Amino acid sequence: MTKQPFYITTPIYYPSDNLHIGHAYCTTIADTIARYQRLQGKEVFFLTGSDEHGQKIQRKAQEKGITPLEYVTPIVDNFKVLWEKLGITNDDFIRTSEERHYKVVQAIFEKIFAKGDIYKSTYEGLYCTPCETFWLERQLEDGKCPDCKRPVETVQEESYFFKMGKYQDALLAHIEAHPEFIQPASRRNEMINFIKQGLEDLCISRTTFDWGIPVPVDNKHVVYVWFDALTNYITAAGYLDNPEKFAKFWPASLHLVGKEIMRFHTIIWPIILMALELPLPEKVYGHGWLVVEGDKMSKSKGNVIDPLGLIEEFGADSIRYFLLREITLGSDGNFSREALINRINSDLANDLGNLLHRTLGMIEKFSNSVILPAAQPNALDQELMALTQQTVINYQENMNNMEINSAMREIWQLISRANKYIDESMPWALAKDPAQKERLNTVLYNLAEVLRIVAILVSPYIPHTSPKIYAQLGLSIAEFSLVDTAWGGLPANTAINKQQPVFPRIDLAEKMAEVAPQLPEPLAPLKEEFSIDDFAKCDLRVAKVLAAEKVKKADKLLKLEVDLGHETRTVISGIALHYQPEELVGKHVVMVINLKAAKIRGVESRGMILAASDDQGNLQVVEVPGMKIGSLVK
Ligand code: MSP
Repeated sequence: MTKQPFYITTPIYYPSDNLHIGHAYCTTIADTIARYQRLQGKEVFFLTGSDEHGQKIQRKAQEKGITPLEYVTPIVDNFKVLWEKLGITNDDFIRTSEERHYKVVQAIFEKIFAKGDIYKSTYEGLYCTPCETFWLERQLEDGKCPDCKRPVETVQEESYFFKMGKYQDALLAHIEAHPEFIQPASRRNEMINFIKQGLEDLCISRTTFDWGIPVPVDNKHVVYVWFDALTNYITAAGYLDNPEKFAKFWPASLHLVGKEIMRFHTIIWPIILMALELPLPEKVYGHGWLVVEGDKMSKSKGNVIDPLGLIEEFGADSIRYFLLREITLGSDGNFSREALINRINSDLANDLGNLLHRTLGMIEKFSNSVILPAAQPNALDQELMALTQQTVINYQENMNNMEINSAMREIWQLISRANKYIDESMPWALAKDPAQKERLNTVLYNLAEVLRIVAILVSPYIPHTSPKIYAQLGLSIAEFSLVDTAWGGLPANTAINKQQPVFPRIDLAEKMAEVAPQLPEPLAPLKEEFSIDDFAKCDLRVAKVLAAEKVKKADKLLKLEVDLGHETRTVISGIALHYQPEELVGKHVVMVINLKAAKIRGVESRGMILAASDDQGNLQVVEVPGMKIGSLVK
């Protein structure tokens, strides 16, 4: 059976500087989708690369007294090192300085020129060099580039122009007929409005610098960088040199790009393709921007995060997991070390890591490190099996809709359920009673089987960890496949190979102290002093949030059901502006349990959850991930 093709691309990044965490974010998403499509049995062609031409790079090279190619090559080599360390599985890496690309850009220029859609004229305009973009007066903001807010230059030169306006109606019709073409939907409306304002003909050549691809019909000119850059997607698919490959992979299934370059990908690029009479890509998805501790990354602020340093410190899978799980695709998201460490501890070390470690520990202890066959399932087992199968279905649905973090949430709900299954079935008690041996084997088999299936599902996110989970379960695998997620695939009598935990816990306080600035003065107490005996009156306990919902007609309030080990309670908490209810479920929080009950909005609240808040209006509940429910806090 021939595999269905799937062609996915990232933007080709500028090698004017080393890449930062924002670039790593985009490429991680693309890699995850590529891996997921392979998991589904598709033949994937995954492309990334470097966009090397243009005035900015020429100037940087001149400043250093070297050629542009000498300037970019070591930076491009660093791109490749980063992708390797992050576990990126691109099938090709295109550099726009390669000969294969020159040939294609020149061929398509000639083709469109011959057709009469490119003509020569004089251009006078406003040009932003860092963005390599022309702007109209009305598009400027305070006289500056609307994208990067830097000054623009007035340039006047002879140029070649591409008749974009000619294709405007055809493009609009295409967008209307293909709702999936521009995603997410908010970006689609933005692009439609832009096109409806009227498309100007596009200046596609420059004469003021020469680091670019010469215009074939006029060597004084080089091709405008975006015309050159966008074309990379067909060069690498074999447009000129590999018709068979091109027929298989073109049109691309997905161009994944940042929201700021949607216009180039959903207007200019489709019109170039229309002029070439080539089909348009199936989907262009504009992802959001990553900010750092709430702030836009910039060299001048000194807050640019180097992904290689992070990988070194925390490991590639932790970084990948955080980027994919924490940020909803399409929205902007925040990177902070604290959030990263919390995610690693709670989701990876605690939920997933503990499930694996506890399960393997029990198999080692109770059945001599062998996963024995399961007997007839009881109702509890059946529920776990059904949830596992449902998770596979929901996962696929979410991944197919590019809702990556929802898919991950589904898997982590299964992981939590499996952890709870351990507590409910109490293998340690079963192990004491020889009559319960079959029951014990069944419970342990089921846990190992959930872990095996989870390892397959998480392989697109944390690809270095999945094979480790497999290996610890005593299994080997050449290639993960969704076909293998059917329940019962784990062969009985497999001997496990327990190793160290896959994600060791990180001491948050210690890590944060490494990077925290020293406080200039000790904090003055804000409240009156009191004795330790008075403090001891306050009964603080670890509680686990079981459920959370908004309180009707009260914006700030959430109603929480919490588990204290020996009892469950209802608490009303004023944290609704800071948390979605589902984010709280499963968290281990600190609660005052001997506070007088109070009726709030008709609900009796018994206790208070501790939270920290700052003068910026941020709030976070105090969390003690992994601590036993009911433990005393003092
Ligand atoms: N060379 C062009 C793209 C040409 S594609 C035919 C370019 N390069 S770039 O180096 O500036 O990379 C831009 C892309 O990097 C964005 O579209 C986005 O995918 C990614 N990101 C750069 N900074 C980012 C963040 N702060 N956050 C998230 N993604 C970011 O534009």
